[in-house]
Amino acid sequence: MKNPSLSLITLGFLAGSGSTACAVDFKKDIQPILEKNCYECHSEKSGKKKGGFVFDDLETFKLDINPNGNAQITPGKPGESHLFEVVTDPNHERHMPPKGQLSDGDVKKLRDWIMAGASFDKAAAPSALPARKELPPIMSWTNSEGKTIRAGFVRLDGENVVLRMPANGQEVPYPLEKLNAESQAQAREAGAP
Ligand code: HEC
Repeated sequence: MKNPSLSLITLGFLAGSGSTACAVDFKKDIQPILEKNCYECHSEKSGKKKGGFVFDDLETFKLDINPNGNAQITPGKPGESHLFEVVTDPNHERHMPPKGQLSDGDVKKLRDWIMAGASFDKAAAPSALPARKELPPIMSWTNSEGKTIRAGFVRLDGENVVLRMPANGQEVPYPLEKLNAESQAQAREAGAP
């Protein structure tokens, strides 16, 4: 079952809040990955702009990020982001970096960052998102003990949020009060009309 009424803003809220386990900060989490693996060939610093891409000049890098889907990064949609494809698909003819492979942890950070709106500024994340109502089938939920699971939102049911487990499609009610503040807000936002 799809939930067309859910909003990407929800994700931006979660990831942009800065206090959750899955929050990604461009400067802290993403820039070091690019610096280590990409600047050599894509930066003002090295003077190399292979393929025309520069990742250390944010004004230029920003041009590669566009919700319309015609740039290297589509905020909120790693699966439709060419940059994400070339770093994750080992068989891509222009796999990046050309020799080597980002670690799983780095790939996850990159994905989370794109999911959250691919913003350079945490506080500005939601504005980078298209104002379209759509929700990824799988979202992150963190409980008050800091454990994060990934599951689909089904509906609010009284004091519970009903989540769909990706492994078996089972619907599981979870008490809202056991989620952390961000995930509670995410559930309420997701369940709002
Ligand atoms: C050793 C040099 C080198 C490194 C390191 C490198 N790139 Fe590239 N990159 C290139 C070259 C050369 C091209 C142009 C390829 C072409 O047009 O055929 C390119 C093109 C690209 C493209 C466009 C691909 C396409 O299909 O047109 C993207 C996106 C990209 N790089 C991202 C990255 C990212 C992200 C990293 C770091 C994880 C990275 N690159 C690391 C050399 C490099």
